[in-house]
Formats: sequence, structure tokens, C-alpha cells
Amino acid sequence: MSQRRRTAVLISGRGSNMAALLAAAADPAYPAEIALVLSNRADAAGLDHARVRGVPIAVVESRRFGRDRVAFEAAMEAEFAVHGIELIALAGFMRVLTEGFVSRWSGRMVNIHPSLLPAFPGLDTHARALAAGVRLHGCTVHLVSPGVDEGPILAQAAVPVLPEDTEASLAARVLAEEHRIYPAALAWLAAGRVTLEGGIARVMAAPAAGALCNPLPVPGPLPTSNGKS
Ligand code: GRF
Repeated sequence: MSQRRRTAVLISGRGSNMAALLAAAADPAYPAEIALVLSNRADAAGLDHARVRGVPIAVVESRRFGRDRVAFEAAMEAEFAVHGIELIALAGFMRVLTEGFVSRWSGRMVNIHPSLLPAFPGLDTHARALAAGVRLHGCTVHLVSPGVDEGPILAQAAVPVLPEDTEASLAARVLAEEHRIYPAALAWLAAGRVTLEGGIARVMAAPAAGALCNPLPVPGPLPTSNGKS
């Protein structure tokens, strides 16, 4: 791949999705190059992971800017200019971006969210999914638009909610799917396989076949009281 799109991954904490993107981009055939990992917190654990892999990192501490989001974003964009950034992947980045920033990066900025949007935007998605009693939960990669956790959807993965699930067990299964779909969705965007039609994203990729149902709509062994068959 001659023209890999120079991508910044923005984090605030653990950085496991960032790590999944870095792993995918280690393949020279992957259409995006992670040219920068930027954190708004100096103590973000993900920074070390990027550092030891030789990926350029930047810290732009949001708290230094108080409520001045425009100045904070200008400082981030100065870093993007230094590193020639073309695409942005938000990966657990815990700042709400201004409309101006979002419109400047429109169509070039993606986010991963731990629910099947438009269900459960915002925080505490796994606890809210359990409280709502949904049978399928999951994650979404979407282009970023001004509304929080809105924007054209590129990819989703669904996981069954199991009777014995806790917030932690459900989060772990969803996170494993996040690590699968985020690298795929960023690759589609970087390779020019995403087009927008009336606010809907069309993705040139193989459609999935069949349906995921939970519980299985066929007779089967009855579960025991702890939910296991
Ligand atoms: C992920 O669940 C992601 O969907 C959400 O924030 C979490 C970040 O986790 N936006 P990590 O930092 O990528 O491990």
C-alpha cells in the first residue's frame, strides 16, 4: 500500500482499542498508519503501550484549558499538523468535541462506542443494557457528528446477553468484539470504501449472513437455575 492514511488515535485511559488499531496497522498492507497517539491525560495507561512500540505520542492535557474547549482543540490540531494527520480514531477519548472541530473533521473521524447504537448512547452502557433486559448488546463504530454518540454507522457487532452476566463479564465480551470491528472499520474508511448517502454510511465490505438470536428460537436443553444447560 503506497498511500497509507496518516491517522491519530485519541485516548484518555487504558487504550485497548488503540492497541488493537496499532496491531492491525503493523501490517504494511493495512491502509492506515498510526502516525500519532494523543492523550488528554498524562497518566493514560495506553501511552506506555504506544511508546514502547515507537509510535509518536503527544499529551495535550485538557484540564490545563479549563472550559476553553476551542483552545484545547487548537492545541490538538497543532499536533495533528506536525504529524500530517488525515484521519482521527477516537478510542476511549473522554472529551466532548465542539461542533467546529467535528465539522472540520467530518467524514474523517471515527469513534467506537460500547453499545448497539442508537441504543444506550453515553456512559455505563453495559449496566444500562443489563437493567433494560436486552437480549443482544454490542458495539458500534461510527463517523463522528456533532451529537454525542451519533453519526453514520460503519460497523456493529452483537453479543448475546447471558443470564449469568455481570457488568464486567458483559463488558469483556463486548470489548473483544470492539477489538475486531474497529480495525476493520478504520481500514474501510482509510481505503475509501465508505460513502455517505443522506446521512447513512455505505460500506463496501462483505455483508454478514444469517441472524444472531438470543435465546435460540429452537427447542433445546432447558437451562438449570444458574443459567447453564
Ligand atoms: C471502550 O469500551 C470504548 O468503546 C469506549 O471506551 C472504552 C475504551 O476502552 N469508547 P479502551 O481504552 O480502548 O480499552
